[in-house]
Amino acid sequence: MNKMRLMFTSKLENEAFARTSVVAFLMPINPSVDEIMEIKTMVAEAVVNCMIHGYDGKEEGDIQLDVQYDENRMITIQIQDYGCGIENIDLAMQPLYTTKEHLERSGMGLTIMSTFADDFQITSTLERGTTVLIKKQLHVESEEEK
Ligand SMILES: Nc1ncnc2c1ncn2[C@@H]1O[C@H](COP(=O)(O)OP(=O)(O)OP(=O)(O)O)[C@@H](O)[C@H]1O
Ligand SMILES: [Mg+2]
Repeated sequence: MNKMRLMFTSKLENEAFARTSVVAFLMPINPSVDEIMEIKTMVAEAVVNCMIHGYDGKEEGDIQLDVQYDENRMITIQIQDYGCGIENIDLAMQPLYTTKEHLERSGMGLTIMSTFADDFQITSTLERGTTVLIKKQLHVESEEEK
């Protein structure tokens, strides 16, 4: 098992930092190009949600990112904010549902995350914040890849 934790400020420029840090951490276990793309996309969607929804664009909140992997190449990523929370998670999970239509959000972030993840969970408490938990099983490495 190997793990890392990052805590960073809710500033938009930190979205690239978060997604590249996760990929850098996972390099030792050789994710495929497709897996890297999916992981980057999930992290970006979750982190941007914390920034624009959880903290409503205010660049002051903390975002905590935990990543771990085990000997079976199962990756767990947890992304947490301490912002406004989500009133109705079932509704938020619906494709195309967004509370920020005026910002031209498409309402697809949570749907994309749950599609790319092997297991996806979201928990939230109003005025306390939101946590997304993503599990992804990486492909079995062939002898040549090792
Ligand atoms: N971290 C969060 N804190 C508070 N509300 C959230 C959070 N993440 C998601 N939501 C709520 O869930 C809704 C759906 O999120 P989703 O990521 O699917 O779509 P979106 O962010 O609105 O649009 P897109 O991701 O396509 O740009 C959001 O509009 C928002 O109301
Ligand atoms: Mg989103």
